[in-house]
Parts: sequence; C-alpha cells; structure tokens
Amino acid sequence: MSKRRILITSALPYINGIKHLGNLAGSMLPADVYARFQRLRGHEVLYICATDEHGTPAELAAQAMQIPVQQYCNEQYEIQRAAGEGFNLSYDWFGRSSRSQNHVLTQHFAETLEANGLIEERISQQVYSVDDGRFLPDRYVEGTCPHCDYEQARGDQCDNCGRLLDPIDLKDPYSSVSGSKNIEIRDTAHLFLLQSQMQDTIRNWVEKATTWPTLASSIAIKWLDEGLRDRAITRDLNWGVPVAKTDGTVRPGFEDKVFYVWFDAPIEYIAATQEWADANDTNWQSWWRTDQGADDVEYVQFMGKDNVAFHTVSFPVTIFGSKEPWKTVDRLKAFNWVTWYGGKFSTSQKRGVFMDQALDLLPADYWRWYLMANAPEGSDAAFTWEGFQASVNSDLANVLGNFVNRITKYTVAKFGGALPATGTPGEAEVWMATELKSGLARITDHYEQMEFRKAAAETRALWAAGNEYLTKAEPWVKYKHDVDAAAIGVRTGLNLVAIFAIIAQPLIPATAKTILDTLGIPDGNRKWPNADDTGLLDAMPHGMPITAPPVLFQKIEDDIVVEWTEKFGGE
Ligand code: MF3
Ligand code: ZN
Repeated sequence: MSKRRILITSALPYINGIKHLGNLAGSMLPADVYARFQRLRGHEVLYICATDEHGTPAELAAQAMQIPVQQYCNEQYEIQRAAGEGFNLSYDWFGRSSRSQNHVLTQHFAETLEANGLIEERISQQVYSVDDGRFLPDRYVEGTCPHCDYEQARGDQCDNCGRLLDPIDLKDPYSSVSGSKNIEIRDTAHLFLLQSQMQDTIRNWVEKATTWPTLASSIAIKWLDEGLRDRAITRDLNWGVPVAKTDGTVRPGFEDKVFYVWFDAPIEYIAATQEWADANDTNWQSWWRTDQGADDVEYVQFMGKDNVAFHTVSFPVTIFGSKEPWKTVDRLKAFNWVTWYGGKFSTSQKRGVFMDQALDLLPADYWRWYLMANAPEGSDAAFTWEGFQASVNSDLANVLGNFVNRITKYTVAKFGGALPATGTPGEAEVWMATELKSGLARITDHYEQMEFRKAAAETRALWAAGNEYLTKAEPWVKYKHDVDAAAIGVRTGLNLVAIFAIIAQPLIPATAKTILDTLGIPDGNRKWPNADDTGLLDAMPHGMPITAPPVLFQKIEDDIVVEWTEKFGGE
C-alpha cells in the first residue's frame, strides 16, 4: 500500500463563543476521527483548523462586553483552542483567520480576481442608521422577516425560516447596536464577485466530483440550478481584512470597509497551512499548489450542511477564478444537525451542552463515542440524556470495559500476570479469527467511506464478538481441569484486548491509550491492523508481563441523568 498524502480541514468555528456538542459532531470531531484513522494506516496527514474571526458576530459580541474586538478574539481563541485540546482534537495546526497570512492571501485573491475581470465595483443600497452614524451590515440590523414575518430576523438570515436575507429586505428594520429605528437606505460602493460568469466552470467541476457524498453534491447542484448570482464581497465594517492591495495601499473609497467574512474565511484554510509552515519551518505549497507537489494530495473537507454551498460554490469561484493552480477539495463530507431532543441548542434557554461544560461532566471519550456512534449522517440525530446514558453504559462500560477487565484481571490472578504461552487454537479461536477478519475489513471500509456511524457500530460489534468468544472458550471453566485449554483462551483474549484498543484509537483515543499502555504495547505496534493478517490473535510475545487497567468507564446512574436534565434541559 503506497503512502497517501491527505489534507483534512474542518469548517472553521466562529470565534464568538464556545461551540456546542452539535457543532463538534458535525465538523471537528469526525475530521479528527478520520485524521487519526488515516495516520494509523500510515498515511501522511495534515489536519488544519482555525477560528473564523471576522464579521459582525465578533464585533457585536465584543461591543456587548465593552472590550476591543481584538482582545475579545484573543480570549475566545484561547478558550476554543483549550476546548479542542480537551476533546483530544489532533489538529496539526489550529490557526486564526485574523492573522497576517490570511490578510495577505485574501488581498492576493481579490487582486487576482479583479485582474481576471471577475470583480467589479458597484453602487449598492445598504441600510444606514442615522443615529449610529454608520451603515448596518448583516447582523447589525434586525427586523421583520419578509418571508415569514418573524420579528427578530437578522439582516443576513432569518432564524425562524432559515432563509438567507439581504438587510434592505427586512420590514421595520432597527439597529441592533442602539435599537434606533431611524433608518435610511443609502448608496455605497462595494466590490462584487461576478459569480454568474463562473457558473459553467463550477458546474463542470461539481459534475465531475463523483467521490462527493450525496448530501454534499445534491446541495451544490441545487444552488447551481438556481443560478449563481454576483455577490458583494465587502462590508461597511472595521473589523476584518482591509480592502487594500497586497502592498498595503487601501482602495480609494474603501477606507471604512473590509472584505466580507465569508470571502476571507475559507481562504484561511490555505493561510492556516501557511501559519503551520511558518511555525514549523516547512513548506505549505506541496499541500496546496498543484504545480508544487499538491497534485497527489487528497483533500477532504468536513462541515455541517449549512456550509456546503459556501464550499462547493462560493469558495471554488474564488479558487478557479484566480486561474492559479490551487488544490481543490476531492471529498466533501457534510453532516446534518445534532438536535437537542429534536429542537435547537440554545445558550440563553439553557438547552444543550457546550464543549467546556461537557468536559466538566465526563472525560472526552464518553462524548466522542456517543456523538460518532450517533453521527447525524442520514438525517438529523437527537441528543438525549437517556440515549447518552444507554450508549455509555452498554457500549463502553459493558461491552468494551468489562471485556478488558475480565481478561486482564484473570491473567493477573491465574497466570501470574504473564501472557500464557501454552495451548493450541481450536474451534472457538477459528470462529473468532473469521469474525475478526470480516469485522476489520468492514470497519476499515466504513472509515474510508467516512461512514462514521457504521464504523462505530461495527467496532462495537467486534467488541461484542470478543465477549461471545469468551463465552465459547470459557477459560474460567476449563481452568479447573485443563490449564492449557484455559491458556489459549486467555492468550487469545489478551490479543483481542490489544486489537480492540488499537481499533478504538480514532474514536476514544485516551482510553485506548490507557489500555495499550497498561498492556505494554509499544507505540510501533499500535498501527491499524490489516484484516488479512492471519497472525493477529497471537501477535503478543508469549510470557509478556500484563497488568490490569483501572476501571475504564464509570456507568452513568439514573439520578445523575435527572440532575443533568435539570441543569442543561431535556425533554
Ligand atoms: N464559521 C463558519 C460557520 O461556523 C464556517 C466557516 S468555514 C470556512 O458556519 F471555510 F469558511 F472558514
Ligand atoms: Zn423568516
């Protein structure tokens, strides 16, 4: 198997506030699981993420806290970085879209697009607040949705019907900064990206993208069918990438404007790779420039479904419009929503758990397992405390935890804490070997297809097969009259413990490490197993000393579920 080079990005989380479990499950976590899987397979992986720091949400949040937006972003970046670390997200780099690399690259793209005739300055109408003395882009203005009459629609989107809006279409608009209703529509210049001219290029590319999962390609096709519209890529704001040339000269008339956040954010995928390269004194071009080695890179993107249009249409317009040899996405994995009992997560209404809170309750692996075993792939998936409890208690504590504890403790008690060397494989071992081979092949395939729910289900099925094997082999019964017959069961069981932990590494890395460390499996022997390897059940050196790990998973009791439901909401 030749070594692949795999570039992985997960949608860049907005800087304003720590993410909830639904955000985690729909982009960063599956990207991490996939990155870990491919590293274990021996491939060269570069997993890049960053905070998405520009735009009105950050400005407004900073204003609400009465601190400078730069300071706000610095603080929030640290919080999000720490939360990612707490969840064991194995980023090779976690960057920031507000860093200089992204400024320069965003300005470079704008310059190139304009040189290619794809950017035009146009006079457009914007909402202006006379009392605030400023334009009110996107979320700076709120009002009544023209489609559904929801009264708190934001300028860029209605939270009630989900439609994207243009601020000037709101009925009864008011400033979200001051509440003032003294609003006028004024003319102002903005840069427009001529997406309509790129319609055919994008369609040809999407139609050739046969390796995209359907959720992604169907959304892209829908947008193309509606027809690509030219869109403004600048805003009347201070916080963002200045509308300047790469040499620093500001575009006349654009002194108080910046690039639109959705223009610069995806560019940060590349710029964050530059941050990584700068920090590690290495080269980023071989990952992103097809004329400099990136033609053999497989690029995989992870995101929630609301992000798909931006990644299949808008960002590709930037990339292809530049006519420069940039690497484009090969496989785009999109997710539906994790809901909170079928509804929305909401901080203000105390509905749902956020990343930092989750880690205060239980270690990351519990959440990682549940969220991936219930990944919102075919449809939305509801988080419920009851479901979480059942999944943890059954899959982790009973199926995996008990297996590991039973067999390691028994080795310590009856075989002097050494891997038994005697006994020959019989019927039960042959059965187990067959299960292992087919199970491993399926898990590997599901991961390759990025089918996380299925990968987790098959992982659990293999753990369950291990328990079934012990029931068949029953070393504790055989021990009484035939120690050798018991020995083969224990030896096979211990090898299974190691394999179960090895294949659990993408999903529950910390627990897997605990198991492999207590077994004394060296780092070099923790690679992803090959389903065709016939020696897997007798791979550990005979006589090797074994200790038993501590209890791996605490069960979640009913009274805790009641307590958490009160604290974080439930049905
Ligand atoms: N911040 C956006 C969101 O949370 C995602 C940005 S992805 C990027 O929906 F590629 F544009 F950065
Ligand atoms: Zn609406």
